[in-house]
Amino acid sequence: MLNLSHMRSELSEHYDLAPSPEVAETLKDVYARMDRVVTPPDWVTYAPYVKAISELKKKRNAVILGHNYMTPEIFHGVSDFVGDSLQLAMKASDVEADVIVQAGVHFMAETSKILSPQKTVLMPDMDAGCSLAESITAEGIDEMRAKYPGAPVVTYVNTTAAVKAASDICCTSSNALQIVNAMESDTVIMTPDQYLAQNIANQSHKNVVYWPGSCIVHEQYTAQDLRDFREWNPGTRLIAHPECPPDVVAEADFSGSTSGILKYVTDEKPERAMLITECSMASNIADELPEVDFVGPCNMCPYMKKISLEKILWVLHTGENEVFVDPDVAEKARLSVQAMIDLSRKLGL
Ligand code: 13P
Ligand code: SF4
Repeated sequence: MLNLSHMRSELSEHYDLAPSPEVAETLKDVYARMDRVVTPPDWVTYAPYVKAISELKKKRNAVILGHNYMTPEIFHGVSDFVGDSLQLAMKASDVEADVIVQAGVHFMAETSKILSPQKTVLMPDMDAGCSLAESITAEGIDEMRAKYPGAPVVTYVNTTAAVKAASDICCTSSNALQIVNAMESDTVIMTPDQYLAQNIANQSHKNVVYWPGSCIVHEQYTAQDLRDFREWNPGTRLIAHPECPPDVVAEADFSGSTSGILKYVTDEKPERAMLITECSMASNIADELPEVDFVGPCNMCPYMKKISLEKILWVLHTGENEVFVDPDVAEKARLSVQAMIDLSRKLGL
């Protein structure tokens, strides 16, 4: 567990982190990517961190992989590559750097380490977990195999390395349907997200059986919420992530992964849109799409929100919070993740 006051006093000895209008001005091009959602006084506070992180990245030959759910100052301010779980996994496998800082949650850092064992992978906060990853162990996979003998196990990347190692292939919300459909067996086991599995089952000819895990952010939405949103703001395009329950997805105008959501809004440019997903998603795309008015709600992922500029600077400064995966587990997990990447590339996803 990080001691915040120790971290702050140590960092302030090495870097000038006081709010600075001068530094904010020198980084005005960076600010322009988020000025619709970050206020000028906040930028004056963030800019010295952005400057220090950028300098340290060069010194350490490090890259920051930022998930779409990071806050805008991380997403636009310091990330070298941004995207959904699939895009970040693919980037981790081919990016040239000595160090990867994973601005996301722990399973993403493990995935990066599995794909790039020779690189140092750092997590700004080791407690940035995921309710889905916590919902299942490798024994859970064995249980499902015993219940459905011969059925392949398609496991969401939101899982630990040990669970990936026990599975046949991974998937993300971008490629889950295509991966399930590509399995030879009629029955396919999906773990650990029951809602993603049910949403895929509704679009696939396969008999999809699943583990009862869920995402604490997306499971909160109800179909009634969406009907209420529509009544409150008629004409708003409702766009839901497939980790939402199936009746929520049925009520939405579109459902897709975080990159699928970005593509849909970019192509359609609705006048008003409500993203039924983690809160930062809308903030991160607001500047790119000035013609779209993004309206509530704002459900935050408590794990993603553990990541901050300060903690990113800390791990780059100290090298603390290195992520290790047992080499035997990593070797087996790599087969599942690589099988997903290979199939996704083959399918042009
Ligand atoms: P994607 O970015 O793959 O859509 O996943 C969302 C998510 O919840 C990651 O934790
Ligand atoms: Fe896990 Fe849900 Fe948070 Fe994504 S949003 S990291 S699935 S808890």
